[in-house]
Amino acid sequence: MEHPWHFDTNEFTVSLLTQEPEDGGVFEYCPNIRSAEAENFGDVRRVLTGHGGDLVRGLRLRPGDLQLFRGRYSLHRVAAVRGDTARHTAILAYSERPGVIGSVARTRQLFGRVLPEHLAAEGRAVRVDRLLD
Ligand SMILES: [Fe+2]
Repeated sequence: MEHPWHFDTNEFTVSLLTQEPEDGGVFEYCPNIRSAEAENFGDVRRVLTGHGGDLVRGLRLRPGDLQLFRGRYSLHRVAAVRGDTARHTAILAYSERPGVIGSVARTRQLFGRVLPEHLAAEGRAVRVDRLLD
């Protein structure tokens, strides 16, 4: 299992690793690769095509590590987990604007399912900026 490259819908998260995998599962991120005003497609493309290694940082989290992260502007993923022990993380997502909810497509890509709230909000996206995703 792994969590693919993405930007968060909300501005920032607080996450807590609760179970470490035997191997793999490194949190990889590109700090502020885009901003609320600029998509920076060139650098994002480099990372997504495997040519932006200089932009990627890795963080091996341990159980109990608390992470404050601005995922709206920092492309990120969790690399493949190996071994029999799953990687578990509690993630609390925050936005300064009420009504921010992931699109149906993005939520399904990331979590494999959607809730009725995602379906009801489709086409009425509330975001803090005008970025595409
Ligand atoms: Fe994320």
